[in-house]
Amino acid sequence: MCGIVGVVGNRNATDILMQGLEKLEYRGYDSAGIYVVNGANNGRLIKSVGRIADLRAKIGIDVAGSTGIGHTRWATHGQATEENAHPHTSETGRFVLVHNGVIENYLQIKEVYLEGHTLKGQTDTEIAVHLIGQFVTDGLSVLEAFKKALNIIEGSYAFALVDSEEPDTIYVAKNKSPLLIGLGEGYNMVCSDAMAMIRETSEFMEIHDKELVILTKDSVTVSDYDGNVVERGSYTAELDLSDIGKGTYPYYMLKEIDEQPTVMRKLISTYADTDGNMNVDPEIVKTVQEADRIYILAAGTSYNAGFASKSMLEKLTDTPVELGVASEWGYNMPLLSKKPMFILLSQSGETADSRQVLVKANAAGIPSLTVTNVPGSTLSREATYTMLLHAGPEIAVASTKAYTAQVAALAFLAKAVGEANGKQEAIDFDLVHELSIVAQSIEATLSEKDAIAEKVQNLLSTTRNAFYIGRGNDYYVAMEASLKLKEISYIQCEGFAAGELKHGTISLIEEGTPVLGLISSSEVVAAHTRGNIQEVAARGAHVLTIVEEGLNKEGDDIIVNKVHPFLATIAMVIPTQLIAYFASLQRGLDVDKPRNLAKAVTVE
Ligand code: F6R
Repeated sequence: MCGIVGVVGNRNATDILMQGLEKLEYRGYDSAGIYVVNGANNGRLIKSVGRIADLRAKIGIDVAGSTGIGHTRWATHGQATEENAHPHTSETGRFVLVHNGVIENYLQIKEVYLEGHTLKGQTDTEIAVHLIGQFVTDGLSVLEAFKKALNIIEGSYAFALVDSEEPDTIYVAKNKSPLLIGLGEGYNMVCSDAMAMIRETSEFMEIHDKELVILTKDSVTVSDYDGNVVERGSYTAELDLSDIGKGTYPYYMLKEIDEQPTVMRKLISTYADTDGNMNVDPEIVKTVQEADRIYILAAGTSYNAGFASKSMLEKLTDTPVELGVASEWGYNMPLLSKKPMFILLSQSGETADSRQVLVKANAAGIPSLTVTNVPGSTLSREATYTMLLHAGPEIAVASTKAYTAQVAALAFLAKAVGEANGKQEAIDFDLVHELSIVAQSIEATLSEKDAIAEKVQNLLSTTRNAFYIGRGNDYYVAMEASLKLKEISYIQCEGFAAGELKHGTISLIEEGTPVLGLISSSEVVAAHTRGNIQEVAARGAHVLTIVEEGLNKEGDDIIVNKVHPFLATIAMVIPTQLIAYFASLQRGLDVDKPRNLAKAVTVE
């Protein structure tokens, strides 16, 4: 989390930083700041609590220069105050630093190296810039001081450092936090995410962990911490400026929900040829074939997408699938099977918890596949294989299209493996056709927005808590539905296995408690879920049903067009995304930027 942008060269740095920060705001939005410098010792540092718009309001035309660094913060150490907002300055004010990550040994550093220093705030970052400043005071060159500090600092970081006495250079380093270089004519940039630089350039260069980069307007020098220069080529990013705008939508989330039929069709054209044959990397297929167990590791919505794909994967590949919460597995790896393979599901490809699992998997020689929306992301680079989601940038903090794209991408993998194994059910499963039907089902649900908004108004506009219930795949959808509702409407919501409610949790049901029942799957399962719905209704629950066409009965609230059972989790989740969206909107909240959250969670 936290977003960094920096530029050096022949451009208006203030404008570039502010534009960049607006694009990075999804990474953190509790405070922000920029430092812009126009010749030696002629810099301006402006910070603000709140959103980028609050920072913008403080920036006058006098804040100008050709070098600058900026930061949007998601607080880890110290509250969201102006003192804790980045950029931070060294003791003398000479050095200015922005940082994304967590410095684990910052208290020891303070104790050992910074006696007598006056710190303005509580952040780990301020300690880092004081440390660099101290080493320069002790007689080291800036580069040597930076290197020495990097060798002492433990933890995760993406740093951009400016020396106000030599402002035509930005010093950059990274470890475990995302950062990349953008290349221009007469200027160069550094940023947490290519999206924030795409207005300026489409030419990028990766930075690997524990590399240091010296950036001037017309040179980029990459080296390791021992000073060995690393030769690295650049690549052109295929990002479209229009992909990162809201267009006529009030919120990114609504735009991204609406994009899902297009994403399904894009996945069809990517992972199948025009005759409907699977177009999945044979090496990935072989790796899955050789595994005796598939482990899916992920966080949040991506974890839920893993569950939503589990039964389809098992049925088509004949391989057991186990799910793991990445933050748990990173340090508490359970006993694995003899021939495991890991699938890392991650929209951003940057989630630190998932990366920690991958580090362990790589060390153990376990083959891995990252399924991600972001080419070149850390998880993509470090896994054995990658499958891309092709969902286009997902900017709303609440993930929607990445979830459905993950399930659909895994369907292509499952079918390809099943076919390679000669499994008849996989051969007969016409995925291209079935996914087109899913796209149509999504479109049909999207056309019901007004009716859904009205039901939400009656059910969720004032409640403090709610339940989603379902069985089998509907339970897995309930998990995601409740996460989505929680994160953007602040309603305390649980996704529950419908049959499990009566074993304890039903005691929470009281007059008016909203219970949203999900019903797809078979007649028998549907009948059981309906039974559970009756049980809560009898205790005063305010019930809303979301039912697959064919299983619907009079009085049901939302009917979802029928799709193939393997893909039902995609169709069934769509109304729940809209429910969360409308609940947030009706409660007057910021749909795209819910409190306390950030999009790419790059700290453990
Ligand atoms: C919720 C949400 C998060 C992410 C989680 C993992 O809407 O977006 O729960 O799913 O932080 O992120 P990725 O998928 O980028 O690894």
